[in-house]
Amino acid sequence: MSIRTLDDLLGEGVSGRRVLVRADLNVPLDKQTGDITDDGRIRAVLPTLEALVSAGAKVVVFSHLGRPKGAPDPQFSLRPVAGRLGELLGAPVHFAEDTVGDSARSTVEGLADGQVALLENLRFNKGETSKDDAERGGFADQLAAFGDAYVDDAFGAVHRKHASVHDVPARLPHVAGRLVLREVEVLSKLTGEPERPYVVVLGGSKVSDKLAVIEALLPKVDRLLIGGGMCFTFLKAQGHEVGSSLLEEEMVQTCRNLLERSEGKIMLPVDVVAADAFAPDAAHDTVPSDGIPSKRVGLDIGPQTVAGFAAALKGAKTIFWNGPMGVFEMAAFAHGTRGVAEAIAKADAFTVVGGGDSAAAVRALGLDESDFDHISTGGGASLEYLEGKTLPGIAALEN
Ligand code: 3PG
Ligand code: MG
Repeated sequence: MSIRTLDDLLGEGVSGRRVLVRADLNVPLDKQTGDITDDGRIRAVLPTLEALVSAGAKVVVFSHLGRPKGAPDPQFSLRPVAGRLGELLGAPVHFAEDTVGDSARSTVEGLADGQVALLENLRFNKGETSKDDAERGGFADQLAAFGDAYVDDAFGAVHRKHASVHDVPARLPHVAGRLVLREVEVLSKLTGEPERPYVVVLGGSKVSDKLAVIEALLPKVDRLLIGGGMCFTFLKAQGHEVGSSLLEEEMVQTCRNLLERSEGKIMLPVDVVAADAFAPDAAHDTVPSDGIPSKRVGLDIGPQTVAGFAAALKGAKTIFWNGPMGVFEMAAFAHGTRGVAEAIAKADAFTVVGGGDSAAAVRALGLDESDFDHISTGGGASLEYLEGKTLPGIAALEN
């Protein structure tokens, strides 16, 4: 990779210089209280920030949170993130109430060497996500004015052609941060020559989101285990009725074609947990996957499926997992995700968990993060990396 790194920048000396750090601090918040429910992405960027602080840089961090529509929206404020980041760094983080306005300007100007500022949500500004190069560029000019150098440590956003990811690095000396480097190093092992058997587990709700990655992975993997909401479209493609389970009718034929071409590599659930309703206390039973009652909704993979998946994972030498196996946020439908996660943790393999949701599931279920070789901070980003797509944020660092 012909990319300059944080160490190269530190080697030039950053004391007293303003260093812009694009981080992905898009953390899940509790809908009621607004509390941060999983701070994994904040912790993941600490090594880069701590190195810059120790070297005496004036560190200006920016990020998106959620998907506000180009204007300020208090429910997506980064203020709580600034508080948590300060706790983790052990020093207060100066929070700017806007991204490129008066508050941001005075916050950046007020920074002493070794201090950290966080600007308000990038997506409160239309220019951040604009498809218009000039509009994005205008916003990037304003951001770039706050820094003398740029560090990209927002792995979770490298697949977005956004101003802070794609256009700011074109305006400043730019390097990859520690997190971005580590993510690329790990994922490139999977796109290179992974040790076999190579088993991939995919879950999550939509086949349409995962279609490109399934197509790209099928020729590379030895086994592809499919659970989560998207398994029902595959079960339908096999000719089974799926009751009122999640179904993408327009993807059924595509799934049928994939199954035909998959040379038996795709493993689908043989049983599912079918409930009366999509609710934590809904009545539910385990049923064979070819016998889902018409009024029931499948909310998890069943125990026989977990056992089958675990057996396939046991002999694997390389494992990639993206997407929960069921509605793990509801205890009654968390067994599939837990069972698969435990089987991955136990396997004598190089194990990578990809994606915001699966990473959050690992922590929410109380599993030990150190039982996995790598937990990626990127969902869409890690999938697009595995698809072999050009990622705008990485391409921008290569130029
Ligand atoms: C993510 O959560 O996947 C990243 O932070 C990117 O967010 P986005 O999908 O809203 O661009
Ligand atoms: Mg996402």
